[in-house]
Formats: sequence, C-alpha cells, structure tokens
Amino acid sequence: MMMNDMPQQAAGQAGGRRIGDVILDLQGISLSFGGVKALTNISFDVREHEIRSIIGPNGAGKSSMLNVMNGVYHPQEGKILFRGEQRQKMEPHMAAKQGIARTFQNIALFKGMSVLDNIMTGRNLKMRCNLFHHALFWGAAQREEIEHRRKVEEVIDFLEIQSIRKTPVGRLPYGLQKRVELGRALAADPSLLLLDEPMAGMNVEEKQDMCRFILDVNDQFGTTIVLIEHDMGVVMDISDRVVVLDYGKKIGDGPPDEVKNNPDVIAAYLGTAH
Ligand SMILES: Nc1ncnc2c1ncn2[C@@H]1O[C@H](COP(=O)(O)OP(=O)(O)O)[C@@H](O)[C@H]1O
Ligand SMILES: [Mg+2]
Repeated sequence: MMMNDMPQQAAGQAGGRRIGDVILDLQGISLSFGGVKALTNISFDVREHEIRSIIGPNGAGKSSMLNVMNGVYHPQEGKILFRGEQRQKMEPHMAAKQGIARTFQNIALFKGMSVLDNIMTGRNLKMRCNLFHHALFWGAAQREEIEHRRKVEEVIDFLEIQSIRKTPVGRLPYGLQKRVELGRALAADPSLLLLDEPMAGMNVEEKQDMCRFILDVNDQFGTTIVLIEHDMGVVMDISDRVVVLDYGKKIGDGPPDEVKNNPDVIAAYLGTAH
C-alpha cells in the first residue's frame, strides 16, 4: 500500500485533516413502514472530511437512516440538504452520481465473480459507453475502459488485495469479502462513503485492518465517512462525532467523550444486550 509520508493522525482528533462545512443536513426526518416508526423526527448533520458514526441497539433505525441518506428510503417527513441544496425525491442511482457510495450490513457482492470484476461493478455508473456508443466511438470507449481499469487497479493496490484479484469472491474468507465490498464502493470515487457495520462478524485482526483502511481513506482521499458500528472501542477511537439512535429516536449527538458520558446513552446500552 502507498505509505503515508505524514505520521498517522491521532484517531478521533481532527489532526491534519480539516473538518469542513456541513455537506449533508438531515432535518426532522421521520420514516415509517406501515405501523412501524423506524425514525422519529431525527436531525443531525455531516461535515466534510469527518468520520461521523451512528450507533444504537439493534432495530434503532441505523440502517434505515443510511437508506434515507442514499435515497433508497423516502422519509414521510423532514428535509434533506446535500451540499446546501434541498433534495427532492431521489433514487439510489442519483446518490451515486452525486458521489455517495455505500456498503451493506450483509455483503452484497457477486460471489461467482472475481474480486477484480466485483470492484469493476463500482464503476458502472461512471460508464458512459454502451454497446451502441462502443460501435460508433471505438477509440473513446477504449480510453474510457483504460481509465476504469486504472482506477480499479489503484483501489486493489490501496486495499492490498493484488494477490486475490482473480479469485471468485465466494471463496474468500469473510473479512476479505468485506474488504472487497469496500473496494467496490471506493471504485466509484465517492466523496461521501456510507458504511453499514463494515466490521461486524470480523475477528480482531480483520477489524484492525478494516479500521486502518477506513482511516486511510479518510486521511488520504479526504472522503467523508458515515459509519454504523457496534464495536464501541472502534467507534470511540476513530469517530469525530457520534449520533446515537434508540427506538428510532435520537438520544445523543456529539464528540465521543461527550456521548460516552451521556446518561441517556448509558441507559440505552445498559438496558439492551448486544
Ligand atoms: N424495509 C422495511 N420494511 C419494514 N420495516 C422495516 C424495513 N426496514 C427497516 N424496518 C424496521 O425499522 C426498524 C429499524 O430497522 P433498522 O434501520 O434496520 O435498524 P438497525 O439498523 O439500527 O438495526 C426496525 O423495526 C425494522 O424492523
Ligand atoms: Mg442495521
């Protein structure tokens, strides 16, 4: 992997990174599925270049929140501003075009396809050239193909998975599959990366690797990251700010130290087992 000239920033502190303006502003978001209220009047924002974590017990509404952010779910109430503009009804492919990429709580990869091809699918939305276009503008299509390959190879190098680039994803251990999924998201060159439990089910070593890659993405590319994670050690270590959900309501929001000492947060965590 490319070595960083600069010493690794102290996690959780803005360090060399400059936290920027608000890029995603969620105001009074409510979302229900039939009778189930998944989110109730949630407001918080995400600043450019920060690592913003969402925590909370199972069923708290964390994944739903991510689905609201990238346009998979449309809340019944509330406003979403992305880079200052109020978002109208948005579809997931539009999120991708705006530079929002995500990974899923349950791995969503093509198991029979190679690592390389799976990561290449992350470029799909960037591909202008269809078959017709290919036939007419062969040269342009070729140049585009080369550019996509270059980006994918860059991601493969960054994630240190050169040795498995031709391996079908289904044959890889779980931790590496999660890394490939991160690779697919990175291939889209996102400015905002949404990660839904990227370390769930991993052993300690796999978690450490994933943590390092998340910090490196944030540090080297300046990518803003929204992270859902259950491992409190990890969350408190790498987040700039943390929002806490419980039963679809926001019960805490702030820097790790503040959230850790919030009585409502402590009560929510003592009251549930996970
Ligand atoms: N597509 C859906 N249809 C119906 N209910 C849903 C759907 N997605 C989430 N929910 C419900 O919304 C609540 C929050 O779920 P979720 O966002 O997955 O929580 P978390 O990720 O914090 O565990 C749960 O009660 C869940 O059953
Ligand atoms: Mg979830």
